[in-house]
Amino acid sequence: MIRHDPVLAGPIADLLVVKPDSVIVDCTLGDGGHSSAFLAKLGPQGRVVGLDRDTQALAIARLRLGKDERFQSFHTEFSRLAEVGPTEGADGFLFDFGVSSRQLDEDARGFTIRPGVPLDLRMDQESGIGLRQMLLECDPDELARELTECADVPRSRLVSRKLVEIAKQRELVSDDLETALLSAFPRGMRDRPREMARLSMALRMLLNQELDEIRQALPAAWARLSEGGRLAVLTYHSVEDRLAKNALRSLIGDEVDAPRDLYGNRPAMRGSWVVRRQSPSPEEVSRNPRARSAQLRVVEKRRGAALLGVLVVLVLVALAGSVMVGCVWRQTRHVSLEKSLDSARTRERRLEDSLVRIQAKVLAERQPAAVTPRAAALGYQRASRQFRLAEPDTTLTGASR
Ligand SMILES: C[S@@+](CC[C@H](N)C(=O)[O-])C[C@H]1O[C@@H](n2cnc3c(N)ncnc32)[C@H](O)[C@@H]1O
Repeated sequence: MIRHDPVLAGPIADLLVVKPDSVIVDCTLGDGGHSSAFLAKLGPQGRVVGLDRDTQALAIARLRLGKDERFQSFHTEFSRLAEVGPTEGADGFLFDFGVSSRQLDEDARGFTIRPGVPLDLRMDQESGIGLRQMLLECDPDELARELTECADVPRSRLVSRKLVEIAKQRELVSDDLETALLSAFPRGMRDRPREMARLSMALRMLLNQELDEIRQALPAAWARLSEGGRLAVLTYHSVEDRLAKNALRSLIGDEVDAPRDLYGNRPAMRGSWVVRRQSPSPEEVSRNPRARSAQLRVVEKRRGAALLGVLVVLVLVALAGSVMVGCVWRQTRHVSLEKSLDSARTRERRLEDSLVRIQAKVLAERQPAAVTPRAAALGYQRASRQFRLAEPDTTLTGASR
């Protein structure tokens, strides 16, 4: 039986098993090559938790490592690692992306590009939709865009249209990869096996939603990693590598465009690089040619990150509190100013009313009908348009004489 040769197994075990009682989660258990190297380095209290979505891989790893009581394994996608209890607080996580040599080489698995083999491309053969169904359900233009995004498939529109056309007639076989490529390159391709492998990889990535799995799993692993714990990632092609590198950067707080504080300082790092990039040695590549494109990256979670997190939360709460107090104070002041303004307006209105009443009274008192009796009472008589004091009554004067 074909067995997968684990890439950089010794260096990865040295990097992740930093103490004998570490708990290491192997998120891509495969045939258990890396897990076996972890167990060899761990002490009696150490543990390895293996995950894989492929039941066949799990069966092989269990056969190989199952007798060791320090080993546990679970059938799951690694994006759901948070649902696996023993992953909480682990000291190391390993992601060895892609498919294993056994999956690639066994015709029955449907990954091969050898002629005449049915194409399956599902990592978990017990669930999920098959390649034909995916092609029947897809929009050919969208499929073309994704083939370019995943593996830079050339002339992807023509290729995807041909694949959909074939899927409408029957199940696909490995030869259909070549048929689809030849529909876009009628004069043939310079490196036919390479282009076929690239197309097969792109279809496999889409069918198994591999990029989404990585996007979800890395933050989930980081959240469950213990302080001082390490997260290692092995990638095999540029799209996967760029995605993983950027995700690790953002997890440790090493983003180029991270927001700076008022003084232009970068935010405190949540972790650090242990290995920025490491390739297998030429000896390893000559022994295992599939290791050729591998890139290892390892980050470490900063100690005290939890405390730092609590401090950051406290500072944020304090800031939010002071902003709220400021808002309440301003609101109260606003209300009291509004009240003063209202009472000033009421007083103004009352004064205006009084003024109108006084003016009305003055006008009324100036009316001739009102003035004449009052002038008469004071001894005035109307003369033309004026009032004069009345003449003395001579009649009364004569009578008295
Ligand atoms: C490159 S092999 C790992 C080989 C393994 N390190 C070894 O030493 O044998 C990748 C394994 O990860 C599994 N795998 C890939 N994507 C997965 C996912 N999203 N969730 C769980 N397992 C996955 C595959 O089924 C395969 O067995």
